[in-house]
Amino acid sequence: MNLRIVGGSLARQVRRYSYKPVRRVPLPPASNATPDAKKADGFSLGKELRARIVASGPIPIATYMKQVLTNPAAGYYMTANHNVFGSRGDFITSPEIGQIFGEVLAVWSLNEWHKFGRPVPFQLIELGPGKGTMMNDILRVYGKFKVTAGLSVHLVEMSEHLSKVQAALLCRSSTEYGDKPFYRSGVTADGLKVYWYRRLEDVPQVFSIIFAHEFFDALPIHKFVKEGDSWKEVLIDVDQQNSEKFRFVASKADTPMLRLFLNSYCSESMADRNHVEISFESESVIQEIGNRLSSNGGLALIVDYGHLGDKGDTFRAFRNHKLYNPLEEPGCADLTADVDFSLLKQFCDRTGKIFTIGPTSQRAFLELAGAKERLEVLLAGASSEEERHRLTDGFRMLTDEDQMGSRFKFFALLPKELKEIYN
Ligand SMILES: C[S@@+](CC[C@H](N)C(=O)[O-])C[C@H]1O[C@@H](n2cnc3c(N)ncnc32)[C@H](O)[C@@H]1O
Repeated sequence: MNLRIVGGSLARQVRRYSYKPVRRVPLPPASNATPDAKKADGFSLGKELRARIVASGPIPIATYMKQVLTNPAAGYYMTANHNVFGSRGDFITSPEIGQIFGEVLAVWSLNEWHKFGRPVPFQLIELGPGKGTMMNDILRVYGKFKVTAGLSVHLVEMSEHLSKVQAALLCRSSTEYGDKPFYRSGVTADGLKVYWYRRLEDVPQVFSIIFAHEFFDALPIHKFVKEGDSWKEVLIDVDQQNSEKFRFVASKADTPMLRLFLNSYCSESMADRNHVEISFESESVIQEIGNRLSSNGGLALIVDYGHLGDKGDTFRAFRNHKLYNPLEEPGCADLTADVDFSLLKQFCDRTGKIFTIGPTSQRAFLELAGAKERLEVLLAGASSEEERHRLTDGFRMLTDEDQMGSRFKFFALLPKELKEIYN
């Protein structure tokens, strides 16, 4: 629900309370930027969020993150206000670096589909497709191998704005709908049907290969810190020194999510940790994937930057390829948190329906899946020295240990009945 401030300055409305500010890893210094990005119609997400805090108290980071990324009026992914991806945007992702990435995933997934006995009908599902580049590269390979009969494509994308960008790349044309489980559909040049949804739950129940590249890092997190022997939830409050700014505070009393964390997730393996970031929304998506894989068959591949439970203070923002203060100008910078793969694996195990492979490093996966061989073919066909440089630089960026090679991880989910066969 959006709240608008009615009358009176916010400064006068700030409650009198004292929350303890939370120290975090040093953030980039505050810029001279105006505290809030305003849309042309005067709407300010920052103002809305502060009014909400003033009315009912500090909010979890998850609430802030969800609003900042996907608020329909001003969320980072929801508007055409800025370039998100690419060298002119705020960050670049592997599929945008080079076609090799999507092509290798296509060949890998085709191979898995063969192992399943080439079931038809079947679906490719992508969660959070960005500009649609990876799916475009995947579909080109499927077309080359003439695997199009019985295949349909299903994209889970919150942002109608990005759905238009994806449709322009993937489809000859597309149509919007308001009365169906999908809100857009189109047809590719190869005649494949493509559908857009806001939730994975709405995608038809058919054998599926599910891709999620840099999707889970965008899902809202709750954050917990240990102070002495007790855990607190980190919340976002209005700054007491400057009522036009936000600050992090520690919860004074137990919050519902802190109780959930303590009762169900805080295990002995976390004894040495002082920070834990949990995305309960990620767990819901994993549960839905588990239900689908066990009922209809299929597999899922999650690719993201993350750690194995050894980090916990990773919530941050990116703007123009640089770290940015996540509490400044909400809606103007991307918010993200590393994926905690140890928790993701725990979520998978809890479903009782899936088994997992990995996480393995991007470098190891791409090498095993034939990325180097594909690079050589592309280099042989390159028409200029410049193109050869672009291809080799991109390959290095994707695979070098000190670039994306080890920070990015591949994690596969399969129906638990297949565990014996895969081991
Ligand atoms: C970091 S981008 C990654 C884009 C693309 N996969 C890539 O790697 O280039 C995150 C994508 O997920 C979408 N997204 C974020 N939150 C979402 C949600 N809750 N449900 C569906 N899509 C979401 C964004 O609109 C965007 O397309």
